[in-house]
This record gives sequence, C-alpha cells and structure tokens, in this order.
Amino acid sequence: MNPIIIHTPEAEAHVYTHGAHVTHFQPVGQKRVLFLSSKSWFAFDKPIRGGVPICFPWFGPKPNEPHHGLARIREWTVENSTPDSILLCLYLQPWEARLTVKVSAALSLSFEVINIGTKPEQFEESLHTYLEVGDIRQVSVEGLENTDYLDNTMGLFRKHQGPEPLTFHGETDRVYLDTEATCIVNDPVWQRRLIVEKTGSKDTVVWNPWAAKAKAMPDFGDDEWPHMLCIEAANCKRHAITLPPGGKHTMSTTIRIA
Ligand code: BG6
Repeated sequence: MNPIIIHTPEAEAHVYTHGAHVTHFQPVGQKRVLFLSSKSWFAFDKPIRGGVPICFPWFGPKPNEPHHGLARIREWTVENSTPDSILLCLYLQPWEARLTVKVSAALSLSFEVINIGTKPEQFEESLHTYLEVGDIRQVSVEGLENTDYLDNTMGLFRKHQGPEPLTFHGETDRVYLDTEATCIVNDPVWQRRLIVEKTGSKDTVVWNPWAAKAKAMPDFGDDEWPHMLCIEAANCKRHAITLPPGGKHTMSTTIRIA
C-alpha cells in the first residue's frame, strides 16, 4: 500500500486511496501536524491508525459491523487531481461520498455526501483528525469552553465544560455538543498552536486513550498516547443527518499551525 504524495511549495501531504485517508501533513520548515502510529496496520481490511480516518456512514459501534463505519476500510477512486489537491470518491449504497483534499500552508478537507437512493436516508460522520502533540499532559484546548458534552468514559453521561480551557488528566473520550467553534491546541512542548476550524459540523469529538487503553490496542504503540490528540469535526448521535433523495451535505475541516 503506497500513498499519493502531494508536494506544494508550502507543504507536503500523503493520501491513501484506502479509506481516502490523509496520513501526513507537514508545512515546509515545520514539524509534522498529524500523528501516525508506528504500529498502524496498512491492510485492506483494517483502518489506518492516525492521520484523518473518515468515519462514515456511522460513528462508533454498530452490531455486527465495523466500528466507525465502512468508509475507512474501502478503496476509494481518485476522480481528479491537481498539483495541490485531490478528489476521491466512494459509492456505498445509497451514498456517494466525495473527499477533496487541498494542500497549502493549511490542510483543508471537504467531505461531501449525496443520497443517490430513492428514499430519505440517515448517516453519521466524522473527520477523525489525529493531531501530533509534544505531551498531551501539558496541552490545553481553547474553543470548547461553556459547552455540554457526552462523556464516553462514563456511558455517554451528559456533562458541562466550564469557562476554563480543556486540559487532559486521563482517558478522554467526549462528544462536545452543538458547537461549531474553532479549536486552538496550545502545545508548550513543541511551542506551537494548532488551529482546527470546521464547517457543517455540530459535534466536536475529543479523544485520547491514555496508557491502559493504548496498551490494549494492537495497532497503537504503548508509549505513543502522550503524542496524539484527536479533535474531530463530526455529526453523530442526535446530530445524525437525514438527506432526501438527491440531497447533499458537506462537512469540512481546516488544520494549520498558527
Ligand atoms: C473515537 C471514539 O472517535 O475513536 C472512541 O470516541 C474510540 O470511543 C476512538 O475508541 C478510536 O476508535 P477506533 O475504531 O479507531 O479504534
């Protein structure tokens, strides 16, 4: 399995047709922006661990089906490419899914879903972005203050984030609700701020497995968890999207170093 490499004067990105998966983004003269596990499978029946997996057409578990949907374990077709962009497509009845990747000083992903069926249909989605950070225990995230969230480490119990920035002290697995806010990831170890913007998304999922869960994952290094943080543009659970026949929905995210 080999990536398609997009090399522009401003940055380099790697994209696999397996899952339409962006695994690497690095602006010139900077450290890489996306985390990719050294233990990731690169196998046709498994998702890649790191980068930006696309969770679609469902998010999370579904009985007798793969976690987070089928899109990340399918081969996508390259429909168009330019020196700084690529468009990948996947037909997954009743859906046509289209991911446009644009590479400049920022990485821009636009995920479009069209109902090509004959009746209204519902889906969930997430651009499951793994950011690389120096040490999660020193990171803070601005943008999710004063927002309710479902805590997936406590059976999706509904909680409230106060006025303080988000910091990390253990396993974190949350769906922040009704937020379209930009998130700013302050990383004092790497002395940088990552900016994660989004459109067309009502949920922001934040995830770090911490030590024990990381150990239990075969495709994740035991010591890698301090170096990643997922901030995901999503529409899931009660924000699942229903489209009429011919209906279209676009969710996008842009990631850059401040
Ligand atoms: C996150 C979920 O989005 O993805 C977590 O909130 C989940 O609950 C994580 O553990 C990783 O999922 P997977 O299928 O890639 O191991």
